[in-house]
Amino acid sequence: MNVRIFNSKIILMAVFLLLIFSLYNTVHADQISNYVLSEGSKEKTRLDLQNELLKNKLIDAFETAESIKNLKGSTIVDFGCGVSSAYPVIKEFIGNSGKYIGIDSSKNQIITAKQRFPNAHYIQGDEKKLEVLQKISSADIVFMRFVIMHQEKQKDFIQHIYSHMKSGSILIIQEPEDTTEGKKKMLNQYPYAEILCDFKAKLGKGLDLDYNFARNLKPILESFDPKKIIYKNEDVYITTLQARTFLRKIIENVAEKALTKGIYTKDYINQYMEAVSKLPSDDKHYWLLGSFHTFVLLK
Ligand SMILES: C[S@@+](CC[C@H](N)C(=O)[O-])C[C@H]1O[C@@H](n2cnc3c(N)ncnc32)[C@H](O)[C@@H]1O
Repeated sequence: MNVRIFNSKIILMAVFLLLIFSLYNTVHADQISNYVLSEGSKEKTRLDLQNELLKNKLIDAFETAESIKNLKGSTIVDFGCGVSSAYPVIKEFIGNSGKYIGIDSSKNQIITAKQRFPNAHYIQGDEKKLEVLQKISSADIVFMRFVIMHQEKQKDFIQHIYSHMKSGSILIIQEPEDTTEGKKKMLNQYPYAEILCDFKAKLGKGLDLDYNFARNLKPILESFDPKKIIYKNEDVYITTLQARTFLRKIIENVAEKALTKGIYTKDYINQYMEAVSKLPSDDKHYWLLGSFHTFVLLK
């Protein structure tokens, strides 16, 4: 009798532990997926296109870093690397003796990145993982492009990353912002395009994230008291022909997540697509991709 009661207690305890474990995993999985809007090969086209449109900004950021110290042979951590769209440019700067380590919380991004660049190193994980922190601590350069905007606690996140970097290492950050002045400029030219100026902020708000956090970064990074900080902020324009392709691709990729979470409706997406199709299909008109903030810090 006693043995039977003992056995059922064990079974109840096991079921309870299993429940706690699966609940933890569900919450954790949801947190991880909040970092990413779309994944893997589906996202590859969009990220590569974005990288191409912003290639000059990327080169400029690394040239700025190079003006501080020689980058050849450096170990670089590309934190939130996505599908490693930036790898070819970064490789030019660090050379064959340099080491590239791509880190991303998304398994699908890492799989896609590894297939493209088998000689690079990759870790799947986020800033809470010990192995990731070890790589950050030993890196000569930490590069983060469009990653801070996806964090829930953006200031804590960047502080955490910076605190693990070694003295003498370089942090390169690139983040976008949609400004009110930029929106006004676009609406003067394309009055039907309001939805194209607002969809990103709406998405961020729906996910409880501030996609324009970049505007707050300067004082935060200065408060870290780096040995050197170089800051650039520039509006980037693309042709409306490029914008038609890029804006379509964004909405196609984020639609699933935004619809599931009730942030966009199908109607909203149709209105968006209609506005995109009204943009001039030529390379004589320009669309403001965003205001881009670049920071290069020497710790
Ligand atoms: C917008 S994509 C940018 C990708 C890449 N940096 C680029 O410029 O092409 C953001 C990427 O950061 C990853 N990410 C966001 N937050 C992260 C975190 N805390 N830890 C690891 N990866 C993260 C996402 O999974 C996603 O692949």
